[in-house]
Amino acid sequence: MSSGLKFDKQTAERLIAVYVTPDVVAQRQQIIEILHPQVGERLLDVGSGPGFLASAVGEAVGASGEVCGVDISEPLLAIAAAHCAGQPWVNFRRGDATKLPFPENHFDAAVVTQVLEYVGDVPAALSELHRVLRPGGRVLVLDTDWDSIVWHTTNRERMNRVLAAWDEHLIDPYLPRTLALKLREAGFRVEAPQVVPLLNPVFDPETYSNRMIDIIAPFVSGRRGIVPEEAQAWAQELRELGERGSYFFSLNRYLFSGRKLAR
Ligand SMILES: C[S@@+](CC[C@H](N)C(=O)[O-])C[C@H]1O[C@@H](n2cnc3c(N)ncnc32)[C@H](O)[C@@H]1O
Repeated sequence: MSSGLKFDKQTAERLIAVYVTPDVVAQRQQIIEILHPQVGERLLDVGSGPGFLASAVGEAVGASGEVCGVDISEPLLAIAAAHCAGQPWVNFRRGDATKLPFPENHFDAAVVTQVLEYVGDVPAALSELHRVLRPGGRVLVLDTDWDSIVWHTTNRERMNRVLAAWDEHLIDPYLPRTLALKLREAGFRVEAPQVVPLLNPVFDPETYSNRMIDIIAPFVSGRRGIVPEEAQAWAQELRELGERGSYFFSLNRYLFSGRKLAR
């Protein structure tokens, strides 16, 4: 099973525009503080995307450590490798989250952000994480629950259809609510989850939600009866609400951290 979003070159470029917004930079900082990478550690980043997180983690572990990024998308792997070219201890390779190309007990910690909701067999991916982590090794998983979205509109019927079509970009748009149990079943001790909110109470081009409009509009065109003109009208209304000072967007991500228990 595969998700509806194709991580091709064009999507990769739009993703980068999202990842450099202050919203997402702040979120990355929060992830690094909780993951707490130490000098000399060996870390795994599953679904490493454009490599922003791997690079930041690489700075923390330093040249005596190692960061391995794994991703299924060749365009994103190429961008990540270029991004981390000055950090030879940060490497990327092609691989699937459900079949990690590493031996068992290999890593001190693993991070998987915004990836498992795209994966068909989440228990298999968590079992692989458990296998490649050393006993006591740390895991950090973060995913979005798209039921938590609040996006102001004067046309709720259209917004609901657009968001229902957008749900098709993931295999499980509501994964966080079942993640703690899945992590425990895979053999992890799980800490209390944390909410990582994205809040854009005013319209600003340099925000997560504004950048996402450029990814959502083309994705939903042609799905659930939405023609391209309607997708454009949806996007246009959000920008006009912004100009009138009536913009509001909020969405929750959920972060789970834990440790590998010996089986
Ligand atoms: C939304 S991006 C997240 C990137 C990065 N983890 C971050 O938070 O910045 C999702 C990434 O997961 C990758 N991905 C999706 N399914 C995957 C799978 N089964 N195995 C490995 N990577 C996968 C995609 O290619 C993409 O780079």
